[in-house]
Amino acid sequence: MFYKIAQKIMFQMDAERAHHLAIDGLKRSANTPLSCIYSQQLPSKPVSCMGLTFPNPVGLAAGLDKDGESIDAFHAMGFGHVEVGTVTPRPQPGNDKPRLFRLKAAKGIINRMGFNNKGVDNLVANLKARKSDILVGVNIGKNKDTPVEEGKNDYLICMDKVYPYASYITVNISSPNTPGLRTLQYGELLDDLLASLKAKQQELADKHGKYVPLALKIAPDLSDDEIADIGRSLLKNRFDAAIATNTTLSRDGVSGLEHANESGGLSGKPLTELSTQVIRKLAAELKGEIPIIGVGGICSATDALAKFDAGATLVQIYSGFIYQGPELIKDIIAAYSGK
Ligand SMILES: Cc1cc2nc3c(=O)[nH]c(=O)nc-3n(C[C@H](O)[C@H](O)[C@H](O)COP(=O)(O)O)c2cc1C
Repeated sequence: MFYKIAQKIMFQMDAERAHHLAIDGLKRSANTPLSCIYSQQLPSKPVSCMGLTFPNPVGLAAGLDKDGESIDAFHAMGFGHVEVGTVTPRPQPGNDKPRLFRLKAAKGIINRMGFNNKGVDNLVANLKARKSDILVGVNIGKNKDTPVEEGKNDYLICMDKVYPYASYITVNISSPNTPGLRTLQYGELLDDLLASLKAKQQELADKHGKYVPLALKIAPDLSDDEIADIGRSLLKNRFDAAIATNTTLSRDGVSGLEHANESGGLSGKPLTELSTQVIRKLAAELKGEIPIIGVGGICSATDALAKFDAGATLVQIYSGFIYQGPELIKDIIAAYSGK
């Protein structure tokens, strides 16, 4: 009920303004009596993944709380984990506005934010300041002005800084909004990146006496051969998880709709099937040896069950959460319990 009213007001505003107002409101209300407006007590449905025990299978996908400002509020809503970021070594403004568009009729979103974030040091301060003990994944990327050939260093810098405060770390090489980033998904560049990050993980595990799992987030716009190559590289480099998928460059299912021709990544309902197919194909390559976190167009409990059926161990939501609100978390947990 509360969410429907809030959504009505926010959907009258420019999408990015509404986003910042919401994050700010959640940040201010977290851990105060006001948080009862959105808090939910949900049944515990523990799920083991990457050596961690998640209290339920539903997480918040990266990009909604990029700087980790409202983690406690998302915990109160009942999420089993929150993925913050994408964060880069240095703060950056992202692309010119407008850069975020609702495709209401299709329950979709197009964004070309371009990793706007306040930098890794600010994120670490927020991770230290949080009060709740919810599992937090930190999604890391490279600055726009770092050449792709040197991109590896940006991931290593972020990993070094967030390692002590992260439950797991996600390597994001699949945003369509940072020029050249997706080239890291292929061949030797991918193998080299994963090998370097794995070596760094070992070094940091020894230093901190704590093993923090590494996940790779991939795009939905990949051929079968490319998915197979990524699967082989994940297995070879003993990565801990794959997150499938990020937003798509395809405009299937939205042509003719307002904003459909905006450049950027499309998410939400139009992405549901494509992302489920990628999960299914990747699961066939990984043969249960590496878990998959399924994300992309989950707008109902049925959509989430399809992701589990395709091979996902956990799911994450972003666009569906914008359109359905916190009730979607409850619905998915209920359906998961009954499966
Ligand atoms: C406005 C917006 C910003 C996003 N920012 C990021 C990001 O910074 N890093 C990332 O890995 N994914 C980002 N994503 C992708 C989501 O995490 C998710 O993978 C994608 O939207 C598909 O899920 P959905 O259909 O539930 O939204 C973003 C998505 C949206 C809509």
